[in-house]
Amino acid sequence: MKFKSLLLALTAAALVSGNALAQAPIIIKFSHVVAGDTPKGKAAERFKELGEKATKGRVKIEVYPNSTLYKDKEEMEALQLGAVQMLAPSLAKFGPLGVKEFEVFDLPYIFPSKAALYRVTEGPVGKSLMKKLEPKGITGLAFWDNGFKDMSANKPLHVPADFKGMKMRIQSSKVLDAQMRALGANPQVMAFSEVYQALQTGVVDGTENPPSNLYTQKMHEVQKHLTMSEHGYLGYAVIVNKKFWDGLPADIRGQLEGAMKDATKYGNAIAQQENDKAIAEVKKSGKTTIYNLTDKEKAEWRKALQPVQKQMEDRIGKDIIAEVNKEAAALDGK
Ligand code: LMR
Repeated sequence: MKFKSLLLALTAAALVSGNALAQAPIIIKFSHVVAGDTPKGKAAERFKELGEKATKGRVKIEVYPNSTLYKDKEEMEALQLGAVQMLAPSLAKFGPLGVKEFEVFDLPYIFPSKAALYRVTEGPVGKSLMKKLEPKGITGLAFWDNGFKDMSANKPLHVPADFKGMKMRIQSSKVLDAQMRALGANPQVMAFSEVYQALQTGVVDGTENPPSNLYTQKMHEVQKHLTMSEHGYLGYAVIVNKKFWDGLPADIRGQLEGAMKDATKYGNAIAQQENDKAIAEVKKSGKTTIYNLTDKEKAEWRKALQPVQKQMEDRIGKDIIAEVNKEAAALDGK
């Protein structure tokens, strides 16, 4: 009798702990490198909110902004190893992973407008790029927008000749390397989390980013000049560890896909606003002079940067560049 009740007690305990296990939420660690108060930071928070609600608490989404968990290069490795489940690296950071085609987004002036960009990200080119991630153990879920980049430094940058000999921080993209060299500058790859200090101490002289990144990292405090050049694009691919994603119960995966769709809509809708707000704040700070290029100067930038497309054909693929140009041209005059 005694033995029987012990057995019963043990069985009950096992059931309770089994239940607890079954009910333990699935954790998604979402790591990124920018401030919470940016288009990407806000979209990540929105995904957390919508994803947790849609899955009724069966999934807990932990967002780690500002490189608190990992820096640029480390986060890609962490995703592949499964130490984090979700990231949203900029499209300029997929080269080291071996998916160089993403660097098409970095080509100077390739997108005449956001409408042209969306044709690419939402169309067959976007889909085929995401497919290229699968052999790396990564699933691409969405493209998130930030905006067009501007150049900053401690001296005015009005014409390409102003870049001569300048040390410019870039992301790990060979296209951005070629872009800076075409302007006569010396590019230096550096993790985003290190840029403020590198600018402050003079390790680099300048950089490029959309205003929302510049302002939220306080780079305007250490950059006296900002040129509204809009010479290139910055966006993100939201990616997950494929094994983790495929292993989710189908209903949960579907709910998270829905949450991602809505978070993407939200993030893309606020991106321009966030950048406009950041420009206004930089202006208000009085620390940085904002310069708008004249038409003649713009033409000089375009001329200097034009050879980059041809130079990068072998790296990115002639076909992809042609496809993107075709999508952009389809919108001409519309
Ligand atoms: C950078 O490294 O300059 C940016 O791409 C950071 C980001 O994720 O927006």
